[in-house]
Amino acid sequence: MPRIAQETVEQVAAASDIVAVITSYFPLKRAGTEFRAICPFHQEKTPSFFVNPSKQSYYCHGCGAGGAVFQFLMQYENIDFPEAVRRLASRAGIAIIEDELSPEEESKQSLRKRLLRLHFEAAAWFHHNLLRTKAAARARDYLKSRSINIETAKRWQIGYAPRTWDSFLHWATAAGFVKEELVESGLVKLREQGNPRSRICDRFRDRLMFPIHNDFGEVIAFSGRILDPKEPSAKYLNSPETPLFRKGNLLFGLHQSKRFIANARRAIILEGQLDLITTFEAGIQNVVAPQGTAITARHATLLRRFADEVILFFDADAAGQKAAERALEVLFGAGLQVRIGEMPAGEDPDSLIRKSGSETFRARVESAEDFFDFQVDRSLSPAESKTTAGRVAFARKMARFISMVPDLVLRDTLISRLAVRLTIARETLLQMVHSSAKQSQDRTLVEEVVTSQVSMPRHDLALICKAALILPDFLYVVRQQPWQSILNHMAGAELLSKIFASSLEPGEPASIAAFFASLSKEEAAILSLLLANKELNEQMGHLFWKQLASAELQRRRRQIETALRLADNTAIQQQANEELKEILDLESWFTDISRLPSRAP
Ligand code: CTP
Ligand code: MN
Repeated sequence: MPRIAQETVEQVAAASDIVAVITSYFPLKRAGTEFRAICPFHQEKTPSFFVNPSKQSYYCHGCGAGGAVFQFLMQYENIDFPEAVRRLASRAGIAIIEDELSPEEESKQSLRKRLLRLHFEAAAWFHHNLLRTKAAARARDYLKSRSINIETAKRWQIGYAPRTWDSFLHWATAAGFVKEELVESGLVKLREQGNPRSRICDRFRDRLMFPIHNDFGEVIAFSGRILDPKEPSAKYLNSPETPLFRKGNLLFGLHQSKRFIANARRAIILEGQLDLITTFEAGIQNVVAPQGTAITARHATLLRRFADEVILFFDADAAGQKAAERALEVLFGAGLQVRIGEMPAGEDPDSLIRKSGSETFRARVESAEDFFDFQVDRSLSPAESKTTAGRVAFARKMARFISMVPDLVLRDTLISRLAVRLTIARETLLQMVHSSAKQSQDRTLVEEVVTSQVSMPRHDLALICKAALILPDFLYVVRQQPWQSILNHMAGAELLSKIFASSLEPGEPASIAAFFASLSKEEAAILSLLLANKELNEQMGHLFWKQLASAELQRRRRQIETALRLADNTAIQQQANEELKEILDLESWFTDISRLPSRAP
């Protein structure tokens, strides 16, 4: 499965100390021979996330997340395995050697690479146009009118797409890009949609160009704004969805703001990219903006990696309020606390900062109210609050939101507080929250059962897995035994087979990390759970293994003996006898004391 050469993976693993890597994301506290922290993958108050330097693995006793350094990166950065290796390699200054790819993979990967290069170079070209060309004079004037100075334009690599139909096309063709990839990138479009043979033209014309980066800082799309307010087409035009760009995954500005968000454990969510740029440049840097779309569950999980709390600054108009309400479910669902920031009518953060300065906006950030207080203060009408029926109806609405909060302690606090504020019985509100929670729980339970495919191996199998991972002598000896004949027919032993069949060297962190990398996420989590549990010695490993082997052999012998008794023709009898002979051989193999552990010196 990994396309990157195994030796490179091992080299990268050896060069990437898990404690150092995790510490570059958040601080770890020493706890005996391990390190601990609040788990970044679920909501908790006391730290149950442990990092073990000698095993080069991590494990959370609260949510079960775990693995080696690669799994950490995959989980934390939401990236796939090759990407995790690449990032750690570049951090360690190791050149990546890639194994041969299938032609299909090759073309998929090289398309991605070509598209990344195209976006990288296109951003530079648009930017150069804006700063240097005569045709961009109007664009420069427009920037000035919005008080964006040259440093800001450079920092965000703002650009200009010329007015013509084919300037970009000409540049890109001269730079060596071909029609197919240009169309795939969305920067160029087919004149007749859906007809790949039709002529092509630039998608972005006479627009101010904002590069959109993924959170790793690569340009993956563009957003173009018109210069003339009288221009009839849409104010903003974004790249379409491409192999690089999925709107629902992307938060504008995150590549610049993530470390500020992680420091503050708090993210300010704005609506527009110019709001974000202005705010960031004014020194309020823990900001993100969904790229012209509603907040998705994916956005929320992404933010949860860095923040405990978000502050929503949506337009004061009805549309903005609707958008905020829709965002709540996914934000609460991800375990984020939500505060609502208020703007004066008709202003957005960009215009407010321009008019009244950054301190005015900062004050609004600080005074942003918790969502629930905000609702009682703003959306409970005086008429409603006067009657019990009105307050109960309102409480029911709030109960739905409270039920979306996964942290039970927080939920409880919210219930008490809201009950007091609405002067209704706490039990009544609790009841409402429960019935609301029940409805959504039924949904998630079903989802969980449907999606979970890998389960924990049986206890004995699990212990043998662990023995193999940490006891070099045990694994060495077992590998010389006919273990395949035992495990081949055994349900649930797939993971153990993988360990036995691998070239893993127990106790070698780099080798363990490389082995983890070849596993699925679920398998890696299981093994790291085992690693996190109490120590185990070699003899126990052998004991469990022998027990398992003889139990399995016994089961098969009984099966064959039954088959023999019932057999009504010699052919079947003969076959069964042969199988029986094989079983007996194996049985004596495993009971023969002289075969027991002795590792060649
Ligand atoms: N947007 C979009 N397409 C549009 C309008 C808006 O994708 N036709 C997105 C853009 O990302 C924009 C955000 O929605 O930044 C918010 O839109 P809006 O409030 O209308 O614009 P502003 O951000 O205030 O932009 P500006 O200040 O440039 O007018
Ligand atoms: Mn604006």
